[in-house]
Amino acid sequence: MPGQTATAAPVSGDHLEIKDSRTGKTYTVPITDGTIRTADLRQIKVKDADFGMMGYDPAFMNTASCRSSITYIDGDQGILRYRGYPIEQLAEKASFLEVAWLLRHGELPTQTEYDQFTHDITYHTYVHENIKEFLHGFRYDAHPMSMLTAGVAALSSFYPTAKNIHDKRERDIAFVRLLAKMPTIAAFAYRHVKGLPYVYPDNSLPYNENFLSMIARMSESKYEAHPAYARAIDVLFILHADHEQNCSTSAVRAVGSSHVDPYSAVAAGVATLYGPLHGGANEAVLRMLNEIGDPKNIPAFIDAVKSGKGESRLMGFGHRVYKSYDPRAKIVKKLCEDVLKVSGSAKDMDIAMELERIALSDEYFIKRKLYPNVDFYTGLIYKSMKFPTDYFTVLFAIARTAGWVAQWEEMLLDKEQKIARPRQIYTGYDERKYKSALDYTHRIAK
Ligand code: CMC
Repeated sequence: MPGQTATAAPVSGDHLEIKDSRTGKTYTVPITDGTIRTADLRQIKVKDADFGMMGYDPAFMNTASCRSSITYIDGDQGILRYRGYPIEQLAEKASFLEVAWLLRHGELPTQTEYDQFTHDITYHTYVHENIKEFLHGFRYDAHPMSMLTAGVAALSSFYPTAKNIHDKRERDIAFVRLLAKMPTIAAFAYRHVKGLPYVYPDNSLPYNENFLSMIARMSESKYEAHPAYARAIDVLFILHADHEQNCSTSAVRAVGSSHVDPYSAVAAGVATLYGPLHGGANEAVLRMLNEIGDPKNIPAFIDAVKSGKGESRLMGFGHRVYKSYDPRAKIVKKLCEDVLKVSGSAKDMDIAMELERIALSDEYFIKRKLYPNVDFYTGLIYKSMKFPTDYFTVLFAIARTAGWVAQWEEMLLDKEQKIARPRQIYTGYDERKYKSALDYTHRIAK
């Protein structure tokens, strides 16, 4: 009846009142944490047989897909916290493995927990020789992200019991194995592309130094990384360890929601990170700086970005969530200066700083709240440490593994979660009769 009120259940607390102009009915929908459940909209129908009202939200711009206690971001204020700890404090005082533990367990580790955890990680750094052979099979010019995606997915076949995702011991060991083996596979991919022999892990070294050893060691009996480089790797891993429901983490959660093993779910995350709008952006930043070539060319480049001609975006600028300076970018800028003191100043850094200065004073970027994101300066650090450009995203993936696994497990233990399955608004044909334009007479039985 027009004007009637319909509610699924009486609502006493905060709620929305929605009036449907099609029927004149009013509905009340509870508000919790400033959010409504879109499933509550299903009661809004014109006819009983209708499916009910849905929310349409391409790219999930305004949809919370989960409740999470791992990472907090306030994009307007430029705040990022893991389990309540500000990223600035973690970057300054913690180690990557401490942060990885924190992300998964919710609390900082005790000394005993940390010692056991680092021991476990250290003694799982080796991969099966067949993984090495498998990576050997790639072409000499394979993109290392392709190799990493395949290598992580392959781990699933080496640890079939990881399928028992409801067994906590299996999740514990998968967490350790993923964190421990990711740098090894990543380093093998690096050496493969360089045509160098793969370097086995050195279990006497800490996580970050062992990774650099597998990357750079040649004939020396022990590789010693420059402390500034080792610190840079550790800090960058901390900064990239998690970033709540970003594209790759959403992919890991969605794939993991099918109850596949964590290696396969994380492989989906690595594949997602490969894209230039996500983890591939730092690679794109360096290509952009290279294209600009000289600070004097910046104004023309910015004009081209604004007019949509040539390079359509200022890579390393803008963020779906941050509408102010990305807090990670501030830390990375300082880190970049420290690393460049060791490696020598780079022309790219001069171009980047001038580009940032000009963009931040330009009306186009101010109006759209476009600020440098984490990727604007990370590429410069990696380049000055002599990592090839197409390897940058691999470094991001090693770090994000900590967040992916923590988020995957949170999804798994969340009783409200089910297999991810969005709806659609169908815009295609109505039913029509099959009438082929092809000649299938040869298939007709004689
Ligand atoms: N340069 C120039 N214009 C931009 C840029 C940019 N980097 N980013 C956004 N805009 C403009 C865009 O054209 C649009 O303008 P208008 O309103 O006139 O159409 C407006 O700003 C809003 O852009 P949007 O595409 O709706 O924003 P989004 O939230 O969908 O995109 C983004 C976020 C990160 C994909 C985008 O800012 C971008 O492509 N940036 C460059 C790539 C990049 O640096 N990516 C790394 C992201 S940080 C690492 C991570 O967390 O994965």
